[in-house]
Amino acid sequence: MNQALKSDPSFDPHFLQSVTEGLGWAEKCLSSRYFYDDRGSELFAQIMKLPEYYLTRSEMQIFTEQSNLICQSLDIKADKLEVVELGAGDGSKTQHLLKQLLKSDAQITYRPIDISSGALSSLKQQMHTALPDLTIQILCGDYFEKLEQLQETVQQKLVLFIGSNLGNLDDTQAKSFIQRLSNTLNPGDYLMLGLDMIKPEQIVLPAYSDAAGITAEFNLNLLRRINRELDANFDLGSFKHVAEYQESEGFARSYLQSLKHQTVTLGASGDQFTFQQGEKIHTEISRKYSDELLAELIQGCQLTLERKFTDTKGYFADYLLQKS
Ligand code: AVJ
Repeated sequence: MNQALKSDPSFDPHFLQSVTEGLGWAEKCLSSRYFYDDRGSELFAQIMKLPEYYLTRSEMQIFTEQSNLICQSLDIKADKLEVVELGAGDGSKTQHLLKQLLKSDAQITYRPIDISSGALSSLKQQMHTALPDLTIQILCGDYFEKLEQLQETVQQKLVLFIGSNLGNLDDTQAKSFIQRLSNTLNPGDYLMLGLDMIKPEQIVLPAYSDAAGITAEFNLNLLRRINRELDANFDLGSFKHVAEYQESEGFARSYLQSLKHQTVTLGASGDQFTFQQGEKIHTEISRKYSDELLAELIQGCQLTLERKFTDTKGYFADYLLQKS
């Protein structure tokens, strides 16, 4: 282990471990969790505005046009509801729902949970500007840790996990995530789950391989982060972004493909990794769902499907589930 790096306060041993493990497999992979450094977050904000990236606009349409209906679908028990959001984002979708909820008689508290305190404070600022009457309590830390605290301390909750963020998990991981999440809910609590639906390749694939090359930049930025934080020497020009999708299985997959035979050194550990020409590093899955897959996902989790909200094209769905 490189001593100078080890004493750098920004050095993350989990990141190093994840990278050495992932690049050590016969089929190399890197975790999509590490896309979101400052530049990665900025690139994702650009992705959300791309003409090909229909996900954000589709879900936005649900929130702008159906927040009224979503509110009407909630059975608020004691005129008090805690809206807990997993992941900060910019709150632009949630804002519409909160605005509608504030029109009801219920007392609304908004509690976004995120590991990034920077993302939380800018979200708080934006929300406060948009909805000055809203009570906001930001929670910085691990989703489950914060949810477990809330389980003991607050009454009825509506947990939002939107934006197709569950899509980055494979089916086994997603199932255990939902099981754990359900365990933090009390009977009568709600979960709103935003998922991208299975649809033809001509629609899904361009969303992950846009013409402007922003998604490619986003993917390659992972190598830039490894170079900077783990003292590696990836040549970004020697890898290219590849996206794949088959409607029959419903997974979009992203890769970084080595354009030549090459060896990369990871200074932080001293490891070397050799790439064959054409060899791919798997970097992300983006799961697309169907009603059947949603049913399998929540099976045995004590969650009942109350209602499904979709955009006019049926591209995206927000499922309202209630803990029994
Ligand atoms: C943030 C997980 C919803 O999978 O669509 C966008 C991330 N990756 N383009 C997605 C992403 C490439 C995005 N999620």
